[in-house]
Amino acid sequence: MRGDTPAVGTLRLLTPGPGRSALALAHPNIALVKYWGKRDERLVLPWTSSLSMTLDVFPTTTWVRLDPSLTRDRVTLNGAPATDEALHRVTAFLELVREIAGRDRRAVVDTSNTVATGAGLASSASGFAALAVAATAAYGLRLHPTALSRLARRGSGSASRSVFGGFAVWHAGRDTDAAEEADLASYAEPVPAADLDPALVVAVVDSGAKAVSSREAMRRTVATSPLFRPWAAASRGDLDTMRAALQRGDLAAVGDIAERNALGMHAAMLAARPAVRYLSPDTIAVLDCVLQLRRDGVAAYSTMDAGPNVKVLCHRADAEQVAEAVRVAAPQATVFVAGPGPGARLLSEGS
Ligand code: DP6
Repeated sequence: MRGDTPAVGTLRLLTPGPGRSALALAHPNIALVKYWGKRDERLVLPWTSSLSMTLDVFPTTTWVRLDPSLTRDRVTLNGAPATDEALHRVTAFLELVREIAGRDRRAVVDTSNTVATGAGLASSASGFAALAVAATAAYGLRLHPTALSRLARRGSGSASRSVFGGFAVWHAGRDTDAAEEADLASYAEPVPAADLDPALVVAVVDSGAKAVSSREAMRRTVATSPLFRPWAAASRGDLDTMRAALQRGDLAAVGDIAERNALGMHAAMLAARPAVRYLSPDTIAVLDCVLQLRRDGVAAYSTMDAGPNVKVLCHRADAEQVAEAVRVAAPQATVFVAGPGPGARLLSEGS
C-alpha cells in the first residue's frame, strides 16, 4: 500500500458525494507498540511508528450535519455541549475538512462514546476516526483510506490507526523539513497477521479523567525525560520484531514485545520532570496477576496507555480465565473482554 501513496498524496476529492449530513461509527484501538511523542505538534507527526489492534468494543458514533444558519460550529459530546479544549479540537478539525472541501458552512456535531472519555481508553482514537468519516462525508468528500487516515491523524495521532480494523501500523514517515512531504508520509495501514485468535482483557481500574492529558504528558516526556530517546530507539526495533511475530502468528512474542514497550514508555514518563505517573496500586496488582498467570503457563501480557487501566493480551480461548484472575486481583475493577474489531465506517448519509 506504500506504493499507492503518491497517487493519493493530496487529501483530494475523489468522487463528490451528496454531502450535508452523515453518521459514522469507529472503534478504539490499543497500541502494542506505542506512539508517545510528536516531532511536529501542528501536523501531529510522531517520533516513532506504532502498531495497534482495533477493538470490537466501546464504539464512538458521530453525526455531522451542515447548517447554513450557523455562524460557528455546535458540538455535543456525550449529550452535553462541548467546551474548552474538546470544543477547540473538534472545531480545528472541521476547519481542516472545510479547507480541503473548499466549503465554509458550519456544522452541528453530535458524538457519543460508549466508554469513559479521557481515561486512557482510547476515546480520542475512535472519536476522531468517526469524526473524520462523518465530516468528510457531510462535506461531500470521498477520501482514499490512506488520506482518511492522514486526516484523522490531525485530530488525534492514534485515530489514524482506528480507520482500519484488526492490526494497523502508523508510519512515522520521513524526517524532512518540507511539511507537505512529511504529512504525506505519515499514515496508518493494515498489517498482515497470521491467525492469532487474540483477545484483549480490559481492566478498568479507574474511569475518571486523567489528571495530565496525554498531549501534555507526551510533550513533557519528549522535552525533559532522559529516557525518552532510548525508549524511542528501542521502539523502532520493537516494531520490526513485532511485525515479524504477527506474520508468523506468535502471540507470545507479540505480547512480550508489547509489554516491554509499554513499560518502557511509562519508565520514560516517570523520568520526566516533573514526573508523569499514571500507574496506580491497582495497576500494579493487575501487572502482578499477569506475571502470575504466565508462571502458571497462560500466555498473558500487559499494556497500559495514558491512564491506570490495564489491557491484557492473550489467546481468546484463555480470555475468560484471564478476566477472572484480574477480577480477583483487582476486585473494584470493571473487566471487559475485547477481540479485534472493524475499521471506521459510514452508517448513513443524507442531503
Ligand atoms: C498512550 O493519540 O491520544 O494511547 O495525538 O495528542 O491526540 P494526541 O495523542 P493520543 O495518544 C495516544 C497515546 C497512547 C499510545 C498509543 O495509542 O499509541
